[in-house]
Amino acid sequence: MKHLLKTSDLTPAQFAYLLDLAAEFKEHPLAQHDLLKGQTVVLYFAKPSTRTRISFETAVARLGGIPSTVGTADLQIGRGETFEDTAKVVSRYSAAFVIRTFADDDVRLISEAATIPVINALTDDHHPCQSLADLLTMREKWGALPGHKVAWVGAGNNVLHSLMEACALCGVDMSIATPVGYEPNPDIVAGAMAIAAETGAMIELTNDPRHAVMYADAIYTDAWISMGDHESQRAARIAALTPFRVTNSLMDYTNPGGIFMHCLPAHRGEEVTAEVIDGPDSVVFDQAENRLHTAQAILYALISGKLEAEATMTAPKATQVALPVLV
Ligand code: CP
Ligand code: NVA
Repeated sequence: MKHLLKTSDLTPAQFAYLLDLAAEFKEHPLAQHDLLKGQTVVLYFAKPSTRTRISFETAVARLGGIPSTVGTADLQIGRGETFEDTAKVVSRYSAAFVIRTFADDDVRLISEAATIPVINALTDDHHPCQSLADLLTMREKWGALPGHKVAWVGAGNNVLHSLMEACALCGVDMSIATPVGYEPNPDIVAGAMAIAAETGAMIELTNDPRHAVMYADAIYTDAWISMGDHESQRAARIAALTPFRVTNSLMDYTNPGGIFMHCLPAHRGEEVTAEVIDGPDSVVFDQAENRLHTAQAILYALISGKLEAEATMTAPKATQVALPVLV
């Protein structure tokens, strides 16, 4: 059984395979339109979602299945049924279980009880599906990934954790600028650094946004307040993070052709100015579109069992041309 609970569950070869697969689904959306004929995929959202929900629903439809989207109030989980029992029951009906919730441990419990693939659609510490769309977008812009540098400017959070792991797997350097006290989880940083040591990537942490963005090919930021963060922290977070707003003058420090990235939803005037996110260097809607193609790749690869076969592959040399993985 193979699940996708965090980006670092994947080997470099598996990550590259998913990118190749997503590129192929982008060209041929109905290439596997019979895979899920007569089957459902359960999408459980304990937090709101626009992109993840609709991209997964569309991906299930393109694979020939029917999405069953539910919230906490719809399930007996809301009345105390255990995650394990829910996972066992859903496994009797459906081809996969996609979950957005708070604690990573809850998704782990579900994955241990499930007999179908479980996919993390965002937890407090991880957002692996987002990281695949992000690296696909970078590959589309740059061709080969290794040798490029991404700067994170903002608060340490789930999107950063998964991006760090993804960049490490793909040989992309990262410089991460956060205010003091808003750094990413040190255990996740250490894990990403261990991967980076294998792939030749560099990860550095700083509290200086200008240092981070120097010679970067992309600046990435995210909301200063994530779902699950306490609203009581809003004033303190805004005060600490205001110097980390992405502005045109910060973009000027990047390499020529530097792009602006954001997982969305965005807050113009907080983490990024309108002129940057709505300007010519912004690729945020390409990232959003790529959520669909990568969701389709994740579902196909896990449900067909093809992802596990890729685990034995050694890391491929970076390719600019997607491999014909669907034949
Ligand atoms: N980027 C992302 O996960 O967006 P949603 O919260 O809208 O799904
Ligand atoms: N860090 C944000 C990402 C939303 C897609 C959150 O968890 O709310």
